[in-house]
This record gives sequence, structure tokens and C-alpha cells, in this order.
Amino acid sequence: AENRTFTMLKPDAVEKGHIGGILEQINASGFRIVAMKLTQMTKHDAETFYAVHNERPFFGELVEFMTRGPIVAAVLEKENAVEDFRTLIGATNPAEAAEGTIRKKFATSVGENAVHGSDSEENAAIEAAFHFSGREMF
Ligand code: CMP
Repeated sequence: AENRTFTMLKPDAVEKGHIGGILEQINASGFRIVAMKLTQMTKHDAETFYAVHNERPFFGELVEFMTRGPIVAAVLEKENAVEDFRTLIGATNPAEAAEGTIRKKFATSVGENAVHGSDSEENAAIEAAFHFSGREMF
């Protein structure tokens, strides 16, 4: 069935000028953009968004990284969007990401991995609502 996923092009991808390249690959893979904006997360935003990771050793580094510059936040729709988007972006660690995936092409490290993709439909809805109001999703 059609569903929606939430993505962020992370500060590393934006800094390196990869917005266009990543969006082109997302488009070519059949995702419809239903919401999108350039925004910057505050420390409070990042701590809230990543609250599930707050006990992890990399939490401080993650918050620091995600707040250091603008991101592109977007909601994408497609048949099987959540699962297919995770396949398109590849493994969290770009060193383990499959050939042709967005992380293989654009990511630097396990921390600075270019792009986020929701891990479930439930989290996609929560994450989309974190960044967008109902009026900003089409
Ligand atoms: P993502 O899956 O989008 O959301 C959680 C993020 O935590 C993940 O991307 C990585 O950017 C980051 N992360 C996961 N594991 C590590 C790690 N070992 N060191 C640093 N950052 C990590």
C-alpha cells in the first residue's frame, strides 16, 4: 500500500552541495514529495527528535552534528515508502552501504551519514509531525 516516510538531508550533505543530487535520486526512485523545507534544528529539537538514543555514547556527538547547519526535511509518499526508502539510502554505516545507495554515494561516516529515513510508518508519522504542520503537507 501507499505510505509516507520522513527524511532529512543532514548538515553534511547540505554543506557539500548534495541537495540536488540526493533529491534527483529520490525523484528517480518514484517518491512523491508531499512536504519539504530547509530548516535548522535547535539543540532542544535534536535532543527531542533523537530522544530514543539519549543513552547512547554517540548522543552528544549526534546532537552537535545535527544542529551545526541547515537540513532539508521532507515527507515522501510512494507504494511501500518506508521500506523502499531504507533500501534506497543503504546501511547506517556508509562503509557497509550497498553500491548505488545514497549513503554509499554521499555519506562520510556512520555519524555523518548524509540522510535520515524513518524506520517504521508509526515513526514516520511522528517525525513528519515534528517538522511539519498539517497545512505544510500536500
Ligand atoms: P539515523 O539512523 O538517521 O539516526 C540515528 C543516527 O545516529 C544515525 O543515523 C547516525 O547518524 C547516528 N549514529 C548511529 N550510530 C552511530 C555511531 N556509532 N557513532 C556516531 N553516530 C552514530
